[in-house]
Amino acid sequence: MAIRSLEVRHFRNLKDIHIKPLPGLNYIIGPNGSGKSSLLEAIHCLGRGKSFRTHKTNRLICEGCSSFTVLGHVQQRGRQFTVGMHRERSKSTIKLAGRLIARSSELTQALPVTVLEPGLHRLIEEGPEYRRKFLDWGVFHVEHGFHHIWNTYRRVLAQRNAALRSGGARASIINWDQELVQTAVQLDQARQRYLTDLMKYVPIYSQKFPDLTAVRITYQRGWREGEAYADYLAAQYVSDKERGFTQFGPHRADLRIRIQGVDAREYLSRGQQKVLVALLVLAQCEQMRMRDTSVVVLVDDLPSELDTEKRNILMQSLTETGAQIFLTGTDRSLFPLDNSEHGMFHVEQGRVHVID
Ligand SMILES: Nc1ncnc2c1ncn2[C@@H]1O[C@H](COP(=O)(O)OP(=O)(O)OP(=O)(O)O)[C@@H](O)[C@H]1O
Ligand SMILES: [Mg+2]
Repeated sequence: MAIRSLEVRHFRNLKDIHIKPLPGLNYIIGPNGSGKSSLLEAIHCLGRGKSFRTHKTNRLICEGCSSFTVLGHVQQRGRQFTVGMHRERSKSTIKLAGRLIARSSELTQALPVTVLEPGLHRLIEEGPEYRRKFLDWGVFHVEHGFHHIWNTYRRVLAQRNAALRSGGARASIINWDQELVQTAVQLDQARQRYLTDLMKYVPIYSQKFPDLTAVRITYQRGWREGEAYADYLAAQYVSDKERGFTQFGPHRADLRIRIQGVDAREYLSRGQQKVLVALLVLAQCEQMRMRDTSVVVLVDDLPSELDTEKRNILMQSLTETGAQIFLTGTDRSLFPLDNSEHGMFHVEQGRVHVID
């Protein structure tokens, strides 16, 4: 699957561009502030309905304009479809194959987009939310029905929390427990299955980096191991009521990432953390490829932060996943240019030209 034509209008500093990317590797080169990351953000919007740099979608509208439009023609196994996003007056309109869609999950399913950007190491360094997002994006693409279960869990959790806060009788709270437990167990099992499978792919990449070979990732489900969620909820009832929210469950799940038995956050340098996250993303791409789903990978500025050897190995591995790749950089010399076919685009003050 690949974006074969991309039109972007009034998106950040990109006024009106139309490019035809190649199915494999596409280099986006230009000076600082020219619009390279903006171009990747526009592609991200096509696959996720939002940017990877801000949640404030209105900020993406070019200053002085009232709306932006991004339109992509996607080729997938011989068939073509269009996907478009239009933002105007704080409202996004998303079309997939000519049909208006209400949920961005449909978009995510149709055009899986993932991003390697300079803040990549946050997945290791910061709170569990980043790791849950990473995990759930993968589970979503591999386990059918996961999104529906997650949404149901979230809705029931919010209702249980509201009941806890309102000080109602125990019966009115326990009312929600059965559905909460049911969805929690499904979520938990789907995540466990996914991670076990993902870990088959991680060594393919980690063994290419001698300092990252002994990576171990364990899943933490969000409540005490070895205890049924129903029992745990019941045991936590008084404490939950005091605090006014459900303290434990799949919404607290996390991944524990260790290298040679030590927490990766305490052991690895910033650059090594980035490589580690990149190889986890690579493992996800390969895992999806084995299930006949290909991914669009946006690589923003990553090359400038890694040493040449690591950069080359990562790029080589990325291209081998068969993903369509968009790679930004300020300088052509940062890219490991081989003889394989690639697209080369130059960005200058919000305009994009093809370089032959
Ligand atoms: N809503 C907007 N309207 C117009 N211009 C904007 C808007 N938001 C950001 N910009 C400007 O767009 C320009 C391009 O930003 P972008 O981050 O895409 O540059 P870049 O090529 O990735 O640069 P770098 O190499 O420094 O990462 C910047 O000058 C930025 O200030
Ligand atoms: Mg940039």
